Formats: sequence, C-alpha cells, structure tokens
Amino acid sequence: MDRYLAWLKKANPKEYVNASADVETDDCVARFFNRDKIVRTMFFFMLWWAAVCSAILLLAYWCDRLGDIDLGSGDASISYYDQHATALADRYESVSFESAYPYLAQKLCAAAQPLHVLDIGAGTGRDAAWIAERGHNVVAVEPSQSMLTVAQKFHAESNVAWVQGRLPDLSATALANASFDMILVNAVWMHIAPQDRDAALARIKSLLRPGGSVFATIRLGPVNEERGTYHISASEFVADAQAAGFTVVPRGDFPDLLGRPQVSWKAFELTRRDALDDGAE
Ligand SMILES: C[S@@+](CC[C@H](N)C(=O)[O-])C[C@H]1O[C@@H](n2cnc3c(N)ncnc32)[C@H](O)[C@@H]1O
Repeated sequence: MDRYLAWLKKANPKEYVNASADVETDDCVARFFNRDKIVRTMFFFMLWWAAVCSAILLLAYWCDRLGDIDLGSGDASISYYDQHATALADRYESVSFESAYPYLAQKLCAAAQPLHVLDIGAGTGRDAAWIAERGHNVVAVEPSQSMLTVAQKFHAESNVAWVQGRLPDLSATALANASFDMILVNAVWMHIAPQDRDAALARIKSLLRPGGSVFATIRLGPVNEERGTYHISASEFVADAQAAGFTVVPRGDFPDLLGRPQVSWKAFELTRRDALDDGAE
C-alpha cells in the first residue's frame, strides 16, 4: 500500500491528496483533523450515525407495512363492503324490513311514543329508513364509507342521522353522550373479532337506556374469509352477553333470506340486568 501511494504521489503529484496522519502543515485545523485518533473517531461516528439512521428508516418502513397487514381486526369486512356496496345494495334492498325482522316491525309499530333507535352496521340503511318512516328517531352507524354513500342515496328522503363508526369502539362524536331505547345489531356480530366482542358488548350496553332492548341476529354457518367473518356459536354469544351484564332472551331461528342453504340466523333480545335489579329494589 505504501509503495503504491509513493508511486501515485510521484506519478500524479497535483491530484495526490495525503490523508495520512503525519501531514506537516501550518494550518492548525488541518493538523487537528489529520491526527490519527480524530480521524478514526470521526469515521466511527459517521459509521454509527449511518447505522442508526438506517435502523430508524427500516423500523419506520416495517411499522408502515404492519399497518397495511390485516391482523384480524375486522377491516377485511369493511373493505369487502366498500368494494361491493352497490351489488350488495340490490340484494339487501330486495328484502323488506318486515320480512327480515317481523318481530321487530311489530314492536316498533306498537310503540306508544317515538323511540330513539340506533342501528349498528346499518348497511344500505333499509332498516333505519323503515323505522324512521314510522316516526322514530334513528341513528344509523356504519363503518363502510361506500355503504354509507349508497344508504344516503337510496334513502335520501328519510330522516335518519347517518354516522360512520365501527364496533367495538363506536367512537363517533355523534354517539359521545347518546343513549337509545332500542339498539339493532343485525347481521353484524360475525364481523366482530372474538377478542373485540367483550368490548363491543360493553360499548353497546353503555349506549342502551335502562329499560331499553338490544336486538341482535347472529349468523350460523361457514366462515367467509373474503368477507371478513369469524365463527360464532349461539352459546358463546349468550355467555358473552350475560357476562357483559345483559339478560338474554332468544327470539327465534330464521333461514337465510338471501337463499344461502348453509347459512341460518338466530335472533336475541338483550336487556340490561342492572335495570332489572334497580326495578326490583
Ligand atoms: C350483512 S350486513 C348487515 C346490514 C344490516 N344490518 C342488515 O341487517 O341488513 C353487515 C354490515 O355490518 C357492517 N360492519 C362490519 N364490521 C362492522 C363493525 N366492526 N362494526 C359495525 N358494523 C360493521 C358492514 O359494513 C355491513 O354493512
């Protein structure tokens, strides 16, 4: 190496730069930076700095990638509804609210005064619009922006408050201090990941007035991964709801109105157990 440098210095003295530590110069700054230890320290410092920057960039990249990966939070279902909103709307709107939920239609028609109703996972707004047309105050909450757009277009005339939100948190400002006489969670529970179900039930309970009812239908049938569904069993649903402080009454078994032979539905009415306890005192 030394011989090569000596040759280089001789062959091309103008271009030659002496980077060794023993340069003799009057410039005190150059002298300082030419010292062996300083050169090594600066080199290591720059190396470490580059390594730290690369690690930070790599970490940021992987955090970003992880955000894109569906970890089973239920987002697969929302993107499914976002992509298929128009096609699904034709199917959902071809079934009437009365034929889908006859016991609910009866209850709502029999109500002595307008009720405050929350429809969670309102889809194309068929049910919310029907209920609002009967004079009740309805808030329809739906996570899929495309479904919300379709719902607002299909039911432009109805007096429904449309809100974007999803279980388990339902964190929309419109729901911050709200409470309801009736909450519908129809054909939604299969989209709630098992680890989110307790929180979802607690949130639903927090939105229910004492004396009010939750109506939920749960889907029994094969899991559809593309649609972001999870397995549900009726006994688990009942046990979870009871553990969350609800009294649970079965409201019947139904075939699938969209004609899927392997799918069937169970309906439940949930009331707050604390409301019953208060009444008994
Ligand atoms: C099968 S549709 C049911 C629509 C309507 N409730 C009915 O009975 O026809 C399921 C709806 O649940 C919504 N959904 C999916 N995940 C949800 C979540 N985590 N919280 C609330 N709604 C959700 C979907 O966007 C979709 O509109």
